[in-house]
Amino acid sequence: MATTATPVHTTQWTRKDLLGLRELSAEEIHLILQTAESLREISLRPIKKVPALRGKTVVNLFFEPSTRTRTSFELAAKRLSADIVNIAAQSSSLSKGETVLDMVKNLEAFKVNFLVIRHAAAGVPHLIARHATSAVINAGDGAHEHPTQALLDAFTIKEKKGRIEGLNVSIIGDIAHSRVARSNIWGLTKLGAHVTVCGPPTLMPPAIEQLGVRVTYKVEDAIKGADVLMLLRIQHERQEHMLIPSLREYRLRYGIDAQRLKGAKPDVLIMHPGPVNRGVELESSVADGPYSVILDQVTNGLAVRMAVLYLLSGNQKDEEGLLHA
Ligand code: CP
Repeated sequence: MATTATPVHTTQWTRKDLLGLRELSAEEIHLILQTAESLREISLRPIKKVPALRGKTVVNLFFEPSTRTRTSFELAAKRLSADIVNIAAQSSSLSKGETVLDMVKNLEAFKVNFLVIRHAAAGVPHLIARHATSAVINAGDGAHEHPTQALLDAFTIKEKKGRIEGLNVSIIGDIAHSRVARSNIWGLTKLGAHVTVCGPPTLMPPAIEQLGVRVTYKVEDAIKGADVLMLLRIQHERQEHMLIPSLREYRLRYGIDAQRLKGAKPDVLIMHPGPVNRGVELESSVADGPYSVILDQVTNGLAVRMAVLYLLSGNQKDEEGLLHA
């Protein structure tokens, strides 16, 4: 890797896996963000590639759909010169009755180094991590955690605002079913932000305030004084029954349009992890407007996922049991 892209804090990373932000310290989160800052310039070079992970193999194992996360892990691996294999769970031998753990054991027989896992059930990446020798990265497990999304969100806030500590961040939408909300609550509160969660009572998990957040059911309260508005879509795929009267009703009460945005600070950031349901949680005039940093989030996801692969690789043992430099 070129000198300009060499992160300076790799010796502090000691974990085999990245499963969630709940277990990370503020220092570990800062380390990932600093490493991403060092690696981001690789994507601006004419030849967007460094040899840092040459000889390593990454497996993307997605049991749920994805555009941003799967693509950015693939690009991150390629920019670091790793080999990458994408497995669509629907077309794998799981459909013939193989268990997830048997599948992982078989993939590890190919001597892979990283397993990037997305699954509809909370805890599956954790289960796999307990049985796998590869580094396991949680790319989203049920409504539990989506750590790399929250890391790229923190990176984007820091990039745009220069800091995270002391900022007011309002997360608005389907909090109950959102792994993005949970990871952001863990991450942003550890980094010193004041987090408010807002949504219909039926989409608010019980006792969420015990995680150190303010709860409001009025979107105007969430907008007022916020430095960042993070919008979430309604996660229909995690709801057995419709928990709101209608999408029209939701839009009227919680949707962010130009009129509602007049109550926001003049330098507010509009964020969304994607995919955006235009005309529901966000009007297009806001999603594509001057306050929106939604596509910056996508761009920053690449640098953050490069940083995660890079840091985890520094803690892997090779065939002789020697730690890599
Ligand atoms: N934000 C996010 O996880 O997007 P994808 O589902 O497209 O990966």
